[in-house]
Amino acid sequence: MKAISFGGRTSGRAGTLHVLGSDRAARIEAGETLLSAAVRGNISFPHMCNAGECGTCKCRLIRGHIRLKSDISRHVAPEELSAGFVLACQSLAVSEDVAVEVPGTGRGRSTRPAPVQIDASVARVTPLSPSVLALEVDLTAEVDYVAGQVAQLTVPGVPGLDKPRCYSFAEAPDRASPRRALFHVRHVPGGAFTDWLFGADRTGARLCFSGPHGTFRYHEADRPLLCVAGGTGLSPIKAILEQGISDGLARDVTLVVGARTRQDLYALDAIASIKKRWRGRFVFVPVLSQEPEGSSWTGRKGHVTDYLRGVAAGHADCAAYVCGPPGMIDAALDVLRGEIPPKHLHHDRFLDRGSVAGAASAVA
Ligand code: FES
Repeated sequence: MKAISFGGRTSGRAGTLHVLGSDRAARIEAGETLLSAAVRGNISFPHMCNAGECGTCKCRLIRGHIRLKSDISRHVAPEELSAGFVLACQSLAVSEDVAVEVPGTGRGRSTRPAPVQIDASVARVTPLSPSVLALEVDLTAEVDYVAGQVAQLTVPGVPGLDKPRCYSFAEAPDRASPRRALFHVRHVPGGAFTDWLFGADRTGARLCFSGPHGTFRYHEADRPLLCVAGGTGLSPIKAILEQGISDGLARDVTLVVGARTRQDLYALDAIASIKKRWRGRFVFVPVLSQEPEGSSWTGRKGHVTDYLRGVAAGHADCAAYVCGPPGMIDAALDVLRGEIPPKHLHHDRFLDRGSVAGAASAVA
């Protein structure tokens, strides 16, 4: 028996939270969210913003009655809500017994790899542009994931870096190297983790890896793909397209990548390689929003959404995958929603710790 409501009262009494796949149960204090109870109870639970912003804590209600404390429709589609999906950080217990399943654990194990928490280390750091680098990580155990998913990284023993940072896997899973993971990291000036990473040679530095997490992935559909990436939102898109090559996918693809200037466009060699190997038609459209006047750039200028506005009607038969910062996602979805059915609109919202902290304090 399960129920989700949008108002009314919580139980006013402490309850118990069960997370499928965990051998622990956590006490839920009156008025406490499921995520807070899980974290306090030392149950591994993917999360980042604690404010309904990132979607990382999406889980499925298996048993019990919860009340949502905010609108979660940006991350949970109506059909997902009907199937019991909620955000743990926005869910308050109404009944005294609540059970949830985190995607990738419990009953989902057959379709999604189970997350692990293991030691890792920095294997290599390679600049991709002035503000983005490729972070290659050695893992102490084999990790399986689905292209589109994320991992969380922390730097143990370094003050200020003990809070998890979420990064998408930037390449399709490589069965030949299951103890290796690749991420694209954008430098956020003032951001503790990226200042640390960009500030010195970190080769060999210890990391803590948790993952895979998240539900973003390719959804089989008999439709061309419209992939839209802003900044390092390219990383999960790249992974999904590489997986598509391995799987022999032959759908037509339009890949739209937004960047500020020409030098911020990165991974162009990887995109060219994907384009060359892709079995269907592949169109790559870079769009620059701040390219200086007088530059020799002859491609598109403006924001990604300006471009989408002009072509959205022509892509109504597509399935769209949109990844990037929240502002870009919201603007792109506003354009695409009028054309592409919701079940074929998939997005992954990228937040840095600065925007997460802002969101969290706004909610607190
Ligand atoms: Fe719940 Fe970010 S941790 S949405």
